[in-house]
Amino acid sequence: MRIAIIGAGYVGLVSGVCLAAEGHDVTCVDLRNDVIAPLSVGVPHIHERGLPELLKSVLASARFRATTELHASLEMAEIALIAVGTPAENGAIDLSAVRQCARQIALISRPFLIICRSSRRAPSSRGQWTR
Ligand SMILES: NC(=O)c1ccc[n+]([C@@H]2O[C@H](COP(=O)([O-])OP(=O)(O)OC[C@H]3O[C@@H](n4cnc5c(N)ncnc54)[C@H](O)[C@@H]3O)[C@@H](O)[C@H]2O)c1
Repeated sequence: MRIAIIGAGYVGLVSGVCLAAEGHDVTCVDLRNDVIAPLSVGVPHIHERGLPELLKSVLASARFRATTELHASLEMAEIALIAVGTPAENGAIDLSAVRQCARQIALISRPFLIICRSSRRAPSSRGQWTR
């Protein structure tokens, strides 16, 4: 499937590269050109074991690309996966980036699947992330 991932941080980039390795057509979008430019030539800005090798492989297969062009990526997508940051301060969660994504998605005038991985950062007692 054609998947647009919004936010190329730990969650978005790792999900995107793995989905591309599974055979999906993935576009990872981020606001930051200093993140996107190195990704496009196979250099991840985060450390994750095996990620550089897998990124190079999915770039070579043309199943993965990185861009700052959100609207164009959404136009092509069957699925949008939101993975933008949700920083917390003094117990409050900042959802402004998620709202910004929602406004951009609302401009697409056809139905498609939206998945939200962005969530409150709150590890449960078992050390797992909760939504
Ligand atoms: N569901 C889960 O299991 C799980 C696990 C860990 C984290 N999370 C959540 O996933 C989200 C992402 O976490 P992360 O660790 O990858 O964050 P991160 O800070 O590493 O990455 C977020 C990226 O989003 C980009 N961004 C921000 N606003 C944007 C916008 N409007 N358009 C495009 N890109 C934008 C930032 O530039 C950044 O590169 C957070 O909400 C976090 O709480 C979920």
